[in-house]
Amino acid sequence: MSTVDKKYLLTTRQMATFVAQGFLRFDEFIPDDLNRAILAEFDAGVPSHAAGTPLSNCYPEPSALGHMLRRPEVQGIIQSLVGPDPLFDHHAIHIRQPREATAQGMHGDAIIDTRALRDFDIQFMYFPHDVPLEMGGTLVAPGSHFRRINEMDIARYQNLLGQVPVVCKAGTLLVLHHGIWHCGRRNQTDRVRYMYKIRLNPTVRQLRLWNTEDLNDPDNNAQNILGHQEPWFEDATGRLEIVNRIKLWRFLTGDNRFDVSYWLTRVENMPEKATD
Ligand SMILES: [Fe+2]
Repeated sequence: MSTVDKKYLLTTRQMATFVAQGFLRFDEFIPDDLNRAILAEFDAGVPSHAAGTPLSNCYPEPSALGHMLRRPEVQGIIQSLVGPDPLFDHHAIHIRQPREATAQGMHGDAIIDTRALRDFDIQFMYFPHDVPLEMGGTLVAPGSHFRRINEMDIARYQNLLGQVPVVCKAGTLLVLHHGIWHCGRRNQTDRVRYMYKIRLNPTVRQLRLWNTEDLNDPDNNAQNILGHQEPWFEDATGRLEIVNRIKLWRFLTGDNRFDVSYWLTRVENMPEKATD
């Protein structure tokens, strides 16, 4: 894929918010004619691709989903987070039938991840039609992405403080860190609910890929954004999440002295190393 114009890239504030919350939300981001074309494509069936295929080779014309993913606004999100040539990992068209007996348990997708908490995949969740609360929507737990879990191990958690039900208008797009806790809620309407998900792997070092012109702008106070406490944090828990956010922010910016309230610098202090 070619690189997009800088104006489509994420800002530093958006990147810091992604690192803190584990997702970004873009409401009514895709135009309605494309939403309708994609819904028709879902009914006709969407061919998949082998894991590891360059995204640029996926969804050849004619493909409404391809059009959606190739829009510069979407490419700007992709390139800011995983670079210009990510790999297709997998996709799914999630369908919730009306009034199914059970909801999906809380889980993380495809996670048996032994990497350090640095390199990350992204997942898009795309909602092609309106999703009112009674349709359930997808539930996400902001700030949960650093808590490594084994898929459904956490399914016994029905609700978390601060959880966000994705109640949205057609064309809404979420981009998520691969570690985020989420689930599909029960659809209590008489209509079928659709959600398309795609996971992408980076092929480049995730270093300052967004529009960094505003990196040193005092209004983009990464310390404040990364220090934000989610409602489910208690004191000790929150500190661990914030340390993990600092580590990821250092990885993304290349600034290994970045800190929030001295949390990481304190534990890095090992004076004996100076005399080794
Ligand atoms: Fe999932």
